[in-house]
Amino acid sequence: MTGASTRLLHAGAPPLRAGSGPVNVPVVRTSTVRFESVAALEDHHHRRADGERIASYGRHGLDTHRALEDAVTQLEGGHRAFLAPSGLSAITLVLLGLLSQGEHALVADGVYAPVRRVEQTLLKRLGITLEFFSPARADLAARIRPNTRLVYLESPSSLLFEVLDLPALAAVARAHGVPVATDNTWSGGWFHQPLKLGANISIQAATKYIAGHSDVMQGIVVVDSPALARRIASAHEALGLTVGADDAYLALRGLRTLPVRLTQHQRHALQVAQWLQAHPAVERVFYPALPDDPGHALWKRDFTGASGLVSFAFRDADATRARRFVDTLQHFAIGASWGGYESLAHLAAPERLREHGCWQGSQPVVRLHVGLEDPGDLIADLGQAFAHSEEAHTLVAAA
Ligand SMILES: Cc1ncc(COP(=O)(O)O)c(C=O)c1O
Repeated sequence: MTGASTRLLHAGAPPLRAGSGPVNVPVVRTSTVRFESVAALEDHHHRRADGERIASYGRHGLDTHRALEDAVTQLEGGHRAFLAPSGLSAITLVLLGLLSQGEHALVADGVYAPVRRVEQTLLKRLGITLEFFSPARADLAARIRPNTRLVYLESPSSLLFEVLDLPALAAVARAHGVPVATDNTWSGGWFHQPLKLGANISIQAATKYIAGHSDVMQGIVVVDSPALARRIASAHEALGLTVGADDAYLALRGLRTLPVRLTQHQRHALQVAQWLQAHPAVERVFYPALPDDPGHALWKRDFTGASGLVSFAFRDADATRARRFVDTLQHFAIGASWGGYESLAHLAAPERLREHGCWQGSQPVVRLHVGLEDPGDLIADLGQAFAHSEEAHTLVAAA
């Protein structure tokens, strides 16, 4: 058996024709698929209806899409992958694919916040209920109702990186016949394979680490069985979801270097997290690779590495000072996305933090994406921003 990096590097590579060929899969752009006869077209339609991954129209995606789907399916250890135009649309695809009017889903309270908007604007109108729960409490079984059709998780959670006990949660859901979907964007699929730990669906915003260069919007859903593939395929088809071949190519290109980028993000983020932990202006650092993080034991058991995302809560700082800190950073751009090569800072909205049951603090929280810059520069930048925000605070207080 070859190693995971070897498989990832070559997954979906085009075969040689007449003894030669390119390393990379070609970008196959088309809206129309041509057929040599009506019978051939009908044959494609029938095979597609039977669940085969075969294109009869450009929207279904041809070789480039197929190569990306195969590579991510392999990465996640799944049965089949579906591409969507963004991470959020991939999440919505799963919710709409598995939930019908009058049905209920249990959703971990720390999931990517716009999931709540999907509920408010779309699912409520369709008579679908999402119930947000605190996944650390051992009461999932008691919350499952006769009409519960999905448990939806994200581990580690958005913003505060709470690591969930996925095998335990999945075992409870499985005992009740309820499928589990989880957002695996944080690990890029490289440091964590939820389908091997009991989840049935793994979702990623390929926008982040898979594409890896802040130049693509994309989502990917990987399912573990033909039965789930049929349900997701029919919603995918009905919604008309598709991605451009150029974007599929960019995501596939990003995938080839995912392991080296993530290893470097982790190395830099750990240095930054340790430095933050020792800084007097910091109350708490949220990074599961730190030995005293509450999720460290679960992270060690279920993950093989940590990403570049590090959050921290200020000690004795109000929102004004936290804003000043972020505004003063030079190497961290202010931005909400992450997963590219560059460093970013995002001041978490207090109302978003209040949604997370795992933390009761009221101090401002900044989420950093630690990029591939020299970590010494990043740490010096954080140092000057702390110093500047404190100095400005002292001047205001003295005035
Ligand atoms: C954990 C997580 N999932 C999903 C998404 C949504 O991805 P996209 O921005 O591609 O819609 C994001 C975006 O920030 C995210 O952080």
